[in-house]
Amino acid sequence: MADPGAKVSENVDGPYFVDDACTACESCVDEAPNNFKMNDDGEYAYVFKQPENDEEEAQCQEALDGCPAEAIGKE
Ligand code: F3S
Repeated sequence: MADPGAKVSENVDGPYFVDDACTACESCVDEAPNNFKMNDDGEYAYVFKQPENDEEEAQCQEALDGCPAEAIGKE
């Protein structure tokens, strides 16, 4: 379970976030490219935009469910 107290700083405000357990597998970027991206040096992902429609919400939930590090949370 991702820790809201350990969010990476780049996350935009909102329900979805990435925490510091991210291992940079990049699957969330593949699942939800409208919402997740890697940071500049590729060390971890962050949420650059919260989902704004049903498709993006579904993709973000898929990303959360599929993250092997359980580094994606939803508040
Ligand atoms: Fe990191 Fe999980 Fe995405 S390991 S790159 S938050 S799928």
